[in-house]
Amino acid sequence: MEKNIDLFAHKSKNWDMSSMRVNNAKEISEIILKNIDINSSMELIDFGAGTGLLTYFIAPYVSKITAIDNSPTMLEEFKAKQSEFACKTDIIKTDIMSDDLKIKADGIISSMTMHHIEDIQSLLNKLYVMLNDNGFIAIADLDSEDGSFHGDNEGVYHFGFDREMLTNVAQKAGFINIKFETANIIEKPQANFTVFVMTAQKKSQLLA
Ligand SMILES: C[S@@+](CC[C@H](N)C(=O)[O-])C[C@H]1O[C@@H](n2cnc3c(N)ncnc32)[C@H](O)[C@@H]1O
Repeated sequence: MEKNIDLFAHKSKNWDMSSMRVNNAKEISEIILKNIDINSSMELIDFGAGTGLLTYFIAPYVSKITAIDNSPTMLEEFKAKQSEFACKTDIIKTDIMSDDLKIKADGIISSMTMHHIEDIQSLLNKLYVMLNDNGFIAIADLDSEDGSFHGDNEGVYHFGFDREMLTNVAQKAGFINIKFETANIIEKPQANFTVFVMTAQKKSQLLA
């Protein structure tokens, strides 16, 4: 029941008006483009795409991005600017953990969403299955923090992440070439918060 509540309904309209959020997505996209061999034939998934900030910056370099998000109001904002994205886009309104999700992609990108998912091992196992052979993940989120990043921690299951813990989880899911790079430092009055991008690759069937 509680899972159907749109936790972003009161934020969606003004989401893109925060220069902090726009700049964060831009910095994340630059790290992704630097570390991943992205090409114009690729079809990606942006999970927790929200209003499409990360999609916007990656779109010029790929063929298609499918936005997966469970917030109808965030996706309304995505839809409103769909004609401005530089690649084909598609929208799937669902929980990323949904069993009905059968889509496959060459790569999965994400920004600031993983801390909203309770079971990280199940998430990474699922992302692994959703990838084509040799596919990649590039997931951005906060390093471990003290819980003060969000004003309201409803729907926040993790106060950032420990990189070593995430490496173990990704390895257990089957990923190889797991790397981290700091993409941004978000300065807030109470503290500074670092944002990482974790990249990793699905093992080729030939190597499996
Ligand atoms: C902090 S926002 C980030 C939005 C966007 N990626 C950005 O960087 O601006 C998190 C997004 O993840 C979505 N989200 C949270 N839990 C989700 C889930 N289980 N499945 C799909 N989307 C989810 C929310 O609806 C929200 O749009």
